[in-house]
Amino acid sequence: MLAVQNLEVVYDDVVLALRGVSLEVPDGRIVALLGANGGGKSTLLRSLSGLLDVHDGEIRKGTVTLDGASVGQLSPSALARRGIKHVLEGRRVFKELTTEENLRVGAHADRRNLKTNLERVYGLFPVLRERRDGQAGLLSGGEQQMLAIGRALMSDPRYLLLDEPSLGLAPRVVEQIRDIVVEINGQGTGILLVEQNATMALEIAHHGYVLENGRVVMDRPAAELREDADVREFYLGLGAEGEVASSFRNVKHYRRRKRWAS
Ligand SMILES: Nc1ncnc2c1ncn2[C@@H]1O[C@H](COP(=O)(O)OP(=O)(O)OP(=O)(O)O)[C@@H](O)[C@H]1O
Ligand SMILES: [Mg+2]
Repeated sequence: MLAVQNLEVVYDDVVLALRGVSLEVPDGRIVALLGANGGGKSTLLRSLSGLLDVHDGEIRKGTVTLDGASVGQLSPSALARRGIKHVLEGRRVFKELTTEENLRVGAHADRRNLKTNLERVYGLFPVLRERRDGQAGLLSGGEQQMLAIGRALMSDPRYLLLDEPSLGLAPRVVEQIRDIVVEINGQGTGILLVEQNATMALEIAHHGYVLENGRVVMDRPAAELREDADVREFYLGLGAEGEVASSFRNVKHYRRRKRWAS
C-alpha cells in the first residue's frame, strides 16, 4: 500500500500547501482525489512521486510510506523503480519524437520487458499503434493524454498517479480515458486519480478524498460520496433532486478557468 500520514508540505519555505494530510492507496484500487483549485491535489501527487524538489517544495512533517517503509526522501527515479509513476497535468509528451519513441523513453530505466509492455500499451490504446511512427506533436489532445499514460505504463508500475487526465477533453474522449483507467486498474495497477471531473472520477473509484486548503475534508467510499449532498452540490453540480444547483455557476466557472489555464 502507498500512503501518507499527517503530511505537511511547504513551498519556498513559506507556502503551506498540505496541512496534515493522511491518505491511502491500497494495491489494485482506484482512489479519487477531488477538490477545488489550489486545494493541494498536485502537491500530494508530487509528494508521492518525489517531484516536490523540482518545485522548491519540501515535506515538513509526516511521512510517505510504501508497504509501511518510509520513502519520502527518495528521488523520483528511485520511486519509479519501486513502481510509482506520476502522469503530470497537461499531457506532457515529447512533441518532436514519434509516438513509439515516446513510449520507448518510458521504458528507459528497464528495457527487459520492453516488448511486452509496448504490446500492453498498444492493446490498451489501438490508436497509438496506428500512429506509432507519427510525430507525437501531431496527435490530438486525447491521443496525447493516452500517450502520456502509455509512457508511464511502459515501466509496468504498481501505482499510477494521474493528474487531471480529462482536463480540456471532449466528453466522448473523457469516456475513453475513463474506460481505459478502469482497464488498467483491472490489470492490477493501483490508481490515484486527481480529477476536476468529479462525476467521472466517482463513477469508477472505490474510495474518494476531498481536499480543501491543504486538508482532507472528506474520506469515504466513492459510492457514499456520490450520494453526499454537499459533494453533489459543490463537485457534481447537482442539487438534491438532481437539478442544477445554485452553486453550479461556480462549478462551471471553475471548470472554465481550468481550461483557459491549460
Ligand atoms: N511550485 C509552487 N510554488 C509555490 N507554491 C505552489 C507551487 N505549486 C503549488 N503551490 C501552492 O500550493 C497550494 C496547492 O497547490 P496545488 O497545485 O497542489 O493545488 P491543486 O489542488 O493541484 O490545484 P489545481 O486544481 O489548480 O490544479 C496552492 O496554494 C498553490 O498556490
Ligand atoms: Mg493541480
